[in-house]
Amino acid sequence: MPKLIIANWKSNHNLETAFRWVETVGSFLKNNKIDCKLVLAPPFSLVSSLSILIQAEFANYLELAVQDLSFRGKGSFTGEVCAQNLEGLGIGYAIVGHSERRSLKGETDQEVAQKTIEAVRHNIVPVVCVDEGYLETQIQLIKQEAAEAKIYFANQQLIVAYEPLEAIGSGQNAPANKVTEIVKNIKKLGDFQTKVIYGGSVKAENVAEYLAVTDGVLIGGASL
Ligand code: PGA
Repeated sequence: MPKLIIANWKSNHNLETAFRWVETVGSFLKNNKIDCKLVLAPPFSLVSSLSILIQAEFANYLELAVQDLSFRGKGSFTGEVCAQNLEGLGIGYAIVGHSERRSLKGETDQEVAQKTIEAVRHNIVPVVCVDEGYLETQIQLIKQEAAEAKIYFANQQLIVAYEPLEAIGSGQNAPANKVTEIVKNIKKLGDFQTKVIYGGSVKAENVAEYLAVTDGVLIGGASL
């Protein structure tokens, strides 16, 4: 299976710089065969324009993710973006429970579990971000929510992104042997098809170490 590389732009880029990025990276991927799947998670405001560009020029080379997903579904929820709003845009993945949303917006493990199930219901692969501290609780809650919603994860893809809080945006990436250990633990906890990726100060100089011991990486700053 090709490794997954997710570029999480967070609240960076505008239409002009985003188009330039996609044209540059997309053309590179067209001309150079790499054994990785590249997924781009832009801010919501750019998703629709980038989707048109990607579907027209780079459909086989780049996939789109969103950085969050409302668990409330469509309706009167000002400012929320739900799966129905994304139909037709070719969104393959949704990052849920990023630590920045947990700390900035007070997102709870329970809400993150609901977002995970909402993504699965709409055929979007959830990328659930966890730190060691709440890893087990988070996975248990996802299992509970899945059981209630009668979703059988045996046939579903779930991606867990191990993102140690101290490694995010700090330049202090976690040692690869620590990541190897956590990857094993996560795979044991999930009795579903879990892929585990690593995020936290991944950059060109260290990415190979993580690709060797995980199913992929989630890259913030260095993906810009
Ligand atoms: P970073 O961010 O690569 O800038 O550390 C990773 C993340 O927040 O997903």
